[in-house]
Amino acid sequence: MAATEPEARGEKTYYVSTPIYYVNDAPHLGHAYTTVAGDVLTRWHRQRGEKVWYLTGTDEHGQKILRTAEAHGVTPQEWCDKLVEESWRPLWTHLDVANDDFIRTTEKRHTDRVQEFVQDLYDKDEIYKGGYEGPYCVSCEEYKLPGDLIEAEDGTQLCAIHKKPVDILQEENYFFKLSEYGPKLLAHYEANPGFIQPESARNEVVNFVKQGLQDLSISRSTFDWGVPVPWDPKHVIYVWIDALLNYATAVGYGADQTRFDATFPADVHLVGKDILRFHAIIWPAMLMANGLPLPGKIAANGWLLVGGEKMSKSNLTGIKPQDLTTHFGVDAYRWYFLRAIAFGQDGSFSWEDLSARYTSELANDYGNLASRVAAMVGKYFGGKLPEATAGGDAEQAVRDGLSKAVAEADRRIGEELDFSGGIAAIFDFVKQVNGYLTEQEPWKVAKDTSDEGQARLATILYTAAESLRAIAVLLNPVMPDTSQKLWDSLGAAESLGALADQRIADTATWGRLPAGATVTKGAVLFPRLEEPPTA
Ligand code: MSP
Repeated sequence: MAATEPEARGEKTYYVSTPIYYVNDAPHLGHAYTTVAGDVLTRWHRQRGEKVWYLTGTDEHGQKILRTAEAHGVTPQEWCDKLVEESWRPLWTHLDVANDDFIRTTEKRHTDRVQEFVQDLYDKDEIYKGGYEGPYCVSCEEYKLPGDLIEAEDGTQLCAIHKKPVDILQEENYFFKLSEYGPKLLAHYEANPGFIQPESARNEVVNFVKQGLQDLSISRSTFDWGVPVPWDPKHVIYVWIDALLNYATAVGYGADQTRFDATFPADVHLVGKDILRFHAIIWPAMLMANGLPLPGKIAANGWLLVGGEKMSKSNLTGIKPQDLTTHFGVDAYRWYFLRAIAFGQDGSFSWEDLSARYTSELANDYGNLASRVAAMVGKYFGGKLPEATAGGDAEQAVRDGLSKAVAEADRRIGEELDFSGGIAAIFDFVKQVNGYLTEQEPWKVAKDTSDEGQARLATILYTAAESLRAIAVLLNPVMPDTSQKLWDSLGAAESLGALADQRIADTATWGRLPAGATVTKGAVLFPRLEEPPTA
């Protein structure tokens, strides 16, 4: 089968991760944004014929989870089990996210290896015991620097991200010698300009590191909901050290060397901009300290904003993805956030914008094109795709437009993580094909019953159907359910095989749909929207 080819060639697996999410609450649009982006990226690479591994999961230790569980009168493990099974896993299934694994930091496959990793660092003299006092934000699970704080009107120090008071913690902890890694990290950023994306995120990290790094407290002794420090079990390992290691433990670190070598390091860690420093500074330093290879890219996405503020459950602005999918469908949901917001930048969500784009781009441009072409092949050729001639300039322009769309979408989505640019390139092609039909007026050509007239009609409809074949493949990573419907309506499976096995590289090859394919009207791709629910 095609999927085993890259393995046989001994190629490294294209490995993409999402952040592992805190399970203190149910997921909202902000969490789903990153996970859907990763799903589109990995589906794209699968269609390139690469071997891919897509990892997501949950971050279950630390004070934040402990406090939430206590507030609900259950053990932290009970709380995590409930949230994972009732909210997190079902959402990814609902959103058609094809993750290959789901790691929970309370799993033994993870905790055992976290202890080994930290023990190795201790044995290498990278960890020492010391004391620290400073402001700590439980929502971030992070000691804060003065620049990370804002002052409330009454003078209380607040976390700038969560706008909540910080605790002053004083502890005797174990410290990782992070301060020694500044020069090595800077050298790595310099030698690998694409390591941190976008440019603004890279600059922020470089400036931060240039100011000098402090050693990092990596244990806690005031509570016990965490992985015990192996040489001193009165301490638990700091939740962020525990969490970052999921990227290694999930792919066989310390357990399955062959698998680990074939998969690790990640090609792309997708992260929100608020957790950039953990991924671009602490994580690479941990890897350097233990002699492991560094990831290819840390790609920071912006925030979904509500009223100009980061959408969050704690601010009561968290919107459930299901509130939108029930109205717009899963595919439109997946498409919208990647289409409407430049990846890496903040973006505001509005129901009106989603409705407007759904109607104009999905229903009118894309959905109507598919239904018009199927209807005309049905009406004029009894539902059998006709034999076409090469046509003239107009047909050549469509073929050129397709080649351009494929190359541009592949570069933007597959390489640059520019999802909005890549999707726009595909939709430019959808518009071009619509324009082609408007100009060629097949409904008028149909009235010419001469052989020439009928041959011309056949060429126009073949050109449109063949374009739709390519569009179904290109949009499959973004809107898999819709693409499958279109694929079925074009009768493509019989001649070309499963949609998931179609290669991006072959998409622009013209003439793949054979004459005689059975074209059926199929399901409406984007039904007319009902009135929005009133509040
Ligand atoms: N558990 C840590 C991550 C550990 S990764 C080794 C964590 N979890 S989180 O649940 O608080 O956040 C997870 C991700 O969701 C972060 O990347 C964060 O940026 C993202 N988002 C949370 N709210 C968001 C928006 N409103 N918009 C976009 N993404 C946001 O941090």
